[in-house]
Amino acid sequence: MLPLLLFLVSIVLPGSLAHGPGKCVLTDTRDPAHELAPFSEAQAQIPWTSTFKDDFDVPPPPLEILSLVVSGPSSNRVDLIFFADGYVQDEREKFFEDAKRLAEDISGNQTFNTVKPLMNFWAAFTPSKESGVGVGGKPKNTAFGLYRDGTELRGVYYAKPAVAAAACSSLGDQCDYPILLGNDPLYGGLGGRFTVITPSIANGALILRHELGHSIINVGEEYDGGYAYFGSNSYNNLSKAVPWAQWLTDPDPTHVRVERAVMPMQAYAWTLLNTSTPWSVKFDSSGAYARHLVRFSVSGLPEAADLRVELDGEDLGWTPRADIGLDRYHYDVHRDGGLSAGEHTLSFTLLNGAREPEAQMCSAEILEFGDESEFVATPGHYSLYPTFSLDNQTTYRPTNEDCLMRQVTTPNFCKACIEGLWLALLRNVSLIDGIDASCVGSAADEDLTKLTLRLVPLAQFRAAAVAGLSESYTVTWRKDGQVIGKFTNSTEAEVGSGQYTIEVQYATNEVRVDRDDRLKAQVQYTVDGGCTKS
Ligand SMILES: *[C@@H]1O[C@H](CO)[C@@H](O)[C@H](O)[C@H]1NC(C)=O
Ligand SMILES: *[C@@H]1O[C@H](CO)[C@@H](O)[C@H](O)[C@H]1NC(C)=O
Ligand SMILES: *[C@@H]1O[C@H](CO)[C@@H](O)[C@H](O)[C@H]1NC(C)=O
Ligand SMILES: *[C@@H]1O[C@H](CO)[C@@H](O)[C@H](O)[C@H]1NC(C)=O
Ligand SMILES: *[C@@H]1O[C@H](CO)[C@@H](O)[C@H](O)[C@H]1NC(C)=O
Ligand SMILES: *[C@@H]1O[C@H](CO)[C@@H](O)[C@H](O)[C@H]1NC(C)=O
Repeated sequence: MLPLLLFLVSIVLPGSLAHGPGKCVLTDTRDPAHELAPFSEAQAQIPWTSTFKDDFDVPPPPLEILSLVVSGPSSNRVDLIFFADGYVQDEREKFFEDAKRLAEDISGNQTFNTVKPLMNFWAAFTPSKESGVGVGGKPKNTAFGLYRDGTELRGVYYAKPAVAAAACSSLGDQCDYPILLGNDPLYGGLGGRFTVITPSIANGALILRHELGHSIINVGEEYDGGYAYFGSNSYNNLSKAVPWAQWLTDPDPTHVRVERAVMPMQAYAWTLLNTSTPWSVKFDSSGAYARHLVRFSVSGLPEAADLRVELDGEDLGWTPRADIGLDRYHYDVHRDGGLSAGEHTLSFTLLNGAREPEAQMCSAEILEFGDESEFVATPGHYSLYPTFSLDNQTTYRPTNEDCLMRQVTTPNFCKACIEGLWLALLRNVSLIDGIDASCVGSAADEDLTKLTLRLVPLAQFRAAAVAGLSESYTVTWRKDGQVIGKFTNSTEAEVGSGQYTIEVQYATNEVRVDRDDRLKAQVQYTVDGGCTKS
C-alpha cells in the first residue's frame, strides 16, 4: 500500500517554479500527468492508512460496482478499481464505457496482458451533482472534487481525499489500486496513492499505464528531465552489477557499454503561446554527434497550420496527431546528421491567433546520439542507455525507447519492467487459489479422497494464449515428504490418508531471475481417512 502522503508531498516539492515561466500556475516542476508520481523509495515506505484515518472520518459515498476484467477472487488478486468523478446520473453508462475501454486498452492485448490472470479490474459508480472536472483551482460539486489548477492540460487534483479513502476502504481487498476517473475529454492526471486520470482518447490509457508502472512495479522514470530514478529499470553506478544483466543483448560482462548520447537541452515550459513572440530556446552543441532528435509536446493545436516548429530557422514540418483536437500529444523528429558545434535555436511560432489562449508549449528536448555503432537505436536492444535528470545527472535505463516508463506513447513495458511487474504482483498473489477435497469410491480396502488444486489461470489454464509468451506449471505432489511421481504435473489426485504437500513452480520467458522464489507456491493438506462416499 502506498501512502496518501505521497500525494500531499507531490505538490509542495522544492525546486518548483524554478522552471516554469509565469503563466504556469502549478508549483510542480514535473509534468504531473506525464511525470506525475512523486516517488522515492523512502516515501514508499510510509504506511498511508495510519496517517489519515484519525484526521478524517467520513462515510463512503454510494458505490455501484461493475466487473470489467475479472480473473479470480479479490483475496488472491491485485485489484484495480475506477471511481467515477464528474459523471452525473445520466452519464452512468458513459462512465462504465470509459472505464471498460481503459481497462481493456491496458490489459486486452498489451501492457498488462500477460499478467492479467493475476489482476482484477472493477468500476464503481457514484453519481456526481455536476458534470466534468473543475478548473482554476475550484472543484465542482462532484464525488471526489477533481479539478485542474488553471485551465491548462496538466495536473488534475482531488479536493476530497477522505471521501476517496472511505470509498476505497469500504471495498476491502477489492481496492488495492484506486483510480479516480474524472469526466473530462482532455489530458490530465496525477500519480500517488490515488491515480487520477481522464478518459481522454489520446492520453487516458497512456497516463494510466505509466502511473500504474510507478505504483505497482515501484519503478521510477526512464524519461529525461525527471528526478526519481530507481527500481528494476534504473542503474547509476557502473562499478556495480547491472540490474538487468539477464536481459542484456550481449551478455558478456566485458562487453557492457554505455550507449553514446547527450542531452544539450530540455525544458518543461508549460507556456501559453501567442502570435506576437515565438517561444524559443538557445542551446549549445559540441558538434561531436552523428544524429539528433527533437522531442516535444504541445496542446491546443489541432491543425498543422496553427504552429511552426523550427530548428535554426528550418521548418521541422510538424503535423498534429490525427484527431488530436485540443488535447496534448508528444512528437519526435529524428534527424540524421549531427548538429554543428556552437549555438542553436529551437522555436515554436503560433501562426493562428484564434488558438490563443489554449495553444500551449508543454515540453521540449534535444538529444544527440552517436551513429548506430556507438548508440544502438534499434528496438529490442538491451544495454545501458543514459537518462538525464532535471539536474542533468546521468542514470542508465535498459532500452532506447522500448518502455512506456520512458516514452508514454509506447503501449508496453521493457523486459526489465515486465519482470519486475511479475515479481511485484506475485508478492500479493499466490499461484494456488485453493485446494478442494471430495470423496470418491473405495479402492481395495480404503476410501480415496480426490484432491483438486485450483491454480491461478496461467499457462495451460489461461483463457486465451498470448503470442510470444512461453510458460508452464510444474506440479509436484509429496506424501509424508516422498514425491509421488505419478501425480507430477497433475492438478488432481486420488489419495488415501496421509499428509500431502503440493508444490507449484511457474516458469515464464518474461522472468529470468526470481531471487525470492515468487514464482513458487506450496500448499499442505491432511487426509485423515474417514472419507466415505455416501
Ligand atoms: C491492441 O488492440 C488495439 C485496439 O484494437 C490496437 O490499436 C493495438 O494496435 C493492439 N496492440 C497490439 C500490440 O496488438
Ligand atoms: C559505486 O560502487 C562501488 C562498488 O560497490 C563503490 O565502491 C562506490 O563507492 C560506488 N560509487 C558511488 C558514487 O556510489
Ligand atoms: C548536460 O551535461 C552534458 C555533459 O556535461 C552537457 O554536454 C549538456 O549540454 C548538459 N545539458 C544540459 C541541458 O545542461
Ligand atoms: C508571448 O509569448 C512569449 C514566449 O513565450 C512570451 O515571452 C511573451 O511574454 C508572451 N507575450 C504575451 C503578451 O503574453
Ligand atoms: C503486497 O505485499 C506486501 C508485502 O507482503 C505488502 O506490504 C503490501 O501491503 C501488499 N499489497 C497489497 C496491495 O496487498
Ligand atoms: C512437468 O511440466 C514441466 C513444465 O512443462 C516439464 O518441464 C516437465 O518435464 C513435466 N514433468 C513430467 C514428469 O511430465
